[in-house]
Amino acid sequence: MLKIRDLYVNYGYVQAVKGLNLEAKTGNITVLIGSNGAGKTTTLKTISGLLKPSNGEIYFNTQRIDGIPAYKISRMGVILCPERRGIFSSLSVIENLRAATYSRKDKKIKQDLEKIFELFPILAERRKQAAGTLSGGEQQMLAIARALMAKPKLLMLDEPSLGLAPKIVNEIFDTLLKIKEQDLITILLVEQNAFLSLEIADYAYVMKTGQIVSEGPAKDIMKERELIEKYLGG
Ligand SMILES: Nc1ncnc2c1ncn2[C@@H]1O[C@H](COP(=O)(O)OP(=O)(O)OP(=O)(O)O)[C@@H](O)[C@H]1O
Ligand SMILES: [Mg+2]
Repeated sequence: MLKIRDLYVNYGYVQAVKGLNLEAKTGNITVLIGSNGAGKTTTLKTISGLLKPSNGEIYFNTQRIDGIPAYKISRMGVILCPERRGIFSSLSVIENLRAATYSRKDKKIKQDLEKIFELFPILAERRKQAAGTLSGGEQQMLAIARALMAKPKLLMLDEPSLGLAPKIVNEIFDTLLKIKEQDLITILLVEQNAFLSLEIADYAYVMKTGQIVSEGPAKDIMKERELIEKYLGG
């Protein structure tokens, strides 16, 4: 579904991504793990069309998408749930969810809202509450729910576990598994929380200073405790 070949991304003189190769297979959860500054967010922003690579190719299905404007890439179904969650804090839960559907022309929005509320019952309870007053975990759920309302084929999540208690992270990761199984959405997950994310992933990449240093089926990478500790500091 997604294929990245020899990707380089620079910020001026800073090389943030240096020759990255990565694939996300249809119906899989692929995780990209790495510590602070590894280049994970840069990679996701580049796939989304928010950053231009200096070299390399990105394919979504058979179409080359590097160089295509971000709004067209999201219309193709490549949706990013960003690191800072990107929700509108003064709008209510339901308003945030509706705002995500503005480019949809189909009539199934109401049905999808009901599905989302089944997946995240807490959001149904809080539908009229201002998003900025939700707890961190609830805000993360809203960010994922919002991304789902945009009907993703490829859902990219940038560190959904950031700053959340392990119990909430487990809950969110369980929901990601459900989403993958129910809706056959392909997921590319970016995480520093290596062990928890490896538990739900099918395939994993370990990233360090702009490069992939290891990859393999998640259950194999999970056994490489030393490697993970070396690159993630625990
Ligand atoms: N706008 C920018 N201008 C200059 N350098 C940047 C910019 N954004 C990121 N960088 C640099 O690029 C490198 C990769 O950053 P990136 O945000 O992709 O890392 P990350 O893996 O997402 O880290 P984290 O886990 O902390 O979010 C870092 O060295 C960072 O300082
Ligand atoms: Mg980041």
